[in-house]
Amino acid sequence: MTPGPGAARFGVPLVRLAVAESTNDVARLLASAGAREGAVVLAGRQTRGRGRLGRVWLSPEGGLWCSLVLRPVGQGPPGLLSLAAGLAAAEAIEAVSDVHAGLKWPNDVVLGERKVGGILIEGAADATIAGFGINVRVPLEHFPPDVAETATSLHLMTDRPVDPEAVLEALLKRFAGWYDTWLAGGAGIVETWSRRDLTRGRPLLINISGETLEGTSDGIEPDGALRLKDASGQVRRVVSGDLIPGQDMTRAR
Ligand code: BTN
Repeated sequence: MTPGPGAARFGVPLVRLAVAESTNDVARLLASAGAREGAVVLAGRQTRGRGRLGRVWLSPEGGLWCSLVLRPVGQGPPGLLSLAAGLAAAEAIEAVSDVHAGLKWPNDVVLGERKVGGILIEGAADATIAGFGINVRVPLEHFPPDVAETATSLHLMTDRPVDPEAVLEALLKRFAGWYDTWLAGGAGIVETWSRRDLTRGRPLLINISGETLEGTSDGIEPDGALRLKDASGQVRRVVSGDLIPGQDMTRAR
């Protein structure tokens, strides 16, 4: 990859692996060995990729599977980092293709009604790891039927051939910008995210630690929590949970 302006902050060093169990784990190891903020791990495929809430993330060849080492000085608003990451992924996809990318809380990246990517942010000893998975040109036949029904690939949605490396370059640039915004307090993240919000006003089922809540999305709170309105009009803040059915490329372990 030839980094463009703005990309240099993320992607130095860029550790390329043909295969990794999970790039988040490799990035965590690098961080514990002292890797600087901006180090990125990229794998051609993952054998134990994981998604949010402990799910399996299927990661064959043809996707962008990468993890960034972050060492935030001070802290942006905790609930907004994953929204900022989702924005970066959506903008990166649009920078390299002619599709519109939407977002579903907390940070599913969606083309049409199908999930094309997701983000897994994990704490490490003294760093934060931001893992991005974007299905660039993985044929859906590689996914089991339950996943293939709800997933898509960028390749299927655009006439342009898209190279995962081009998505990476765009992602690192966009993420650098949104990360700075987050560090500076996050102004504009919720507003910008909300313009891509595909769930607002729509009926949702949400799984919170095994409990299923039903309601309608009433958008996002300033701190990144989802506002779930029940049938009586009462709004509940949801800080962490999973939309059902799993509109994603994950499966329960
Ligand atoms: C989700 O939507 O559940 C999040 C999926 C995150 C997948 C990426 S792929 C690169 C990084 N390594 C992992 O094991 N997971 C993340």
